[in-house]
Amino acid sequence: MAKYHIAVLPGDGIGKDVMDAAMIVLDHIDIDAEYIYGDVGWEFWKKEGDPLPERTLELLRETDCCLFGAITSKPDEDAQKELAPELRGKGIKYRSAIVRIRQEFDLYANIRPCKSYKGNPLNYRDDIDLVIVRENTEGLYSGVEFHPVPDEVKKALMLNEKMERFKDVPPDELAVSCRIFTKKGCQRIIRKAFEYAREHKRKSVTVVEKPNVIRETSGMMIREARKIAQEYPDIEYREVNVDAMCMWLVKNPQDYDVLVASNMFGDIISDLSAQLVGGLGFASSANIGDDYALFEPTHGSAPKYAGKYIVNPMAMLLSVKLMLEWLKEKKWAEKLENAIAKVIEEGKVRTYDMGGNSSTLDVAREVAKKIEEQE
Ligand code: NAI
Ligand code: MG
Repeated sequence: MAKYHIAVLPGDGIGKDVMDAAMIVLDHIDIDAEYIYGDVGWEFWKKEGDPLPERTLELLRETDCCLFGAITSKPDEDAQKELAPELRGKGIKYRSAIVRIRQEFDLYANIRPCKSYKGNPLNYRDDIDLVIVRENTEGLYSGVEFHPVPDEVKKALMLNEKMERFKDVPPDELAVSCRIFTKKGCQRIIRKAFEYAREHKRKSVTVVEKPNVIRETSGMMIREARKIAQEYPDIEYREVNVDAMCMWLVKNPQDYDVLVASNMFGDIISDLSAQLVGGLGFASSANIGDDYALFEPTHGSAPKYAGKYIVNPMAMLLSVKLMLEWLKEKKWAEKLENAIAKVIEEGKVRTYDMGGNSSTLDVAREVAKKIEEQE
């Protein structure tokens, strides 16, 4: 029996293109792994009324981790129109597969490294090497929202005197989205950031919140962070407000190391940071829980490029590197990263976004070659 069982979910559109690239490279990574393909995405929504069929959830439960491509999702109206005729009108609702996986497996830490590899023409500067650790399960993306706002909810909100000025707003003219933090949620994401910093020999951890305004939720995060920081005297602890952080990231991104933030703030600073080092073609990510992990590029299925094999596979290949690190296959993770760095620096094989005209698979083959050359 193989040492690792890895679920492979290519999904839709360019998810398939970049997954083919990943498999070319994994063919040259000599770990004892079995790769098991599974169904996910729009195709299965249309045919089966479920973009994440139960058999795929079963597959995930039976594997050690998952490599994920990308999926398409569309607004409700289109989702209903594209359902197979026999499934229409039965009240079947579309639910995002990736969000469901994150919840089902409690993948609370979204790790998004942003590093400028030497010679990448898309770099904003050449000395950026930061990692965002984003809380992935609560905060403003908890999905607890009201519109129109029911009477009971409004009554409860009126317990806070600041609600007074909204008291005459009619229910359908009022919308409320809740930013929900738990102490446990704060503690585990902060701890993950410090553990990541220690394991990867990082110098500092910066908490990115806004406790001067969002006093209760951001306040809880900062309080827990200050306590946990004391357990890591070897790592510098910093606090920066999210708005200022966006400014500093544009001004001095090279000064930052590990950044930790709640769900929405993490989402915002990771898109900003990704663009500093080449954009979607380079943005890799890991979704990590205590017992399972999923690795995916952050880009979507880019339908207009689907099956054309012209998009950049680097975000996917860097996600494979994150997977190898998580599996504690450090030597292979390093080899893969070195290979990626060499291909970028040499600049002979590049996809369109980097100004080249090589294919997705050409890039993968070149990376594979550079892995072999390190033997
Ligand atoms: P997208 O990320 O798919 O593409 C936006 C644009 O970015 C593309 O048209 C392309 O110009 C560029 N791009 C993306 N990946 C690239 C790569 N690897 N190399 C070079 N250029 C690249 O975002 P969009 O168009 O907003 O969404 C398309 C579909 O993907 C939607 O159905 C959306 O819901 C879904 N989506 C899925 C995600 C996931 O699976 N985790 C994440 C984001 C969007
Ligand atoms: Mg985003």
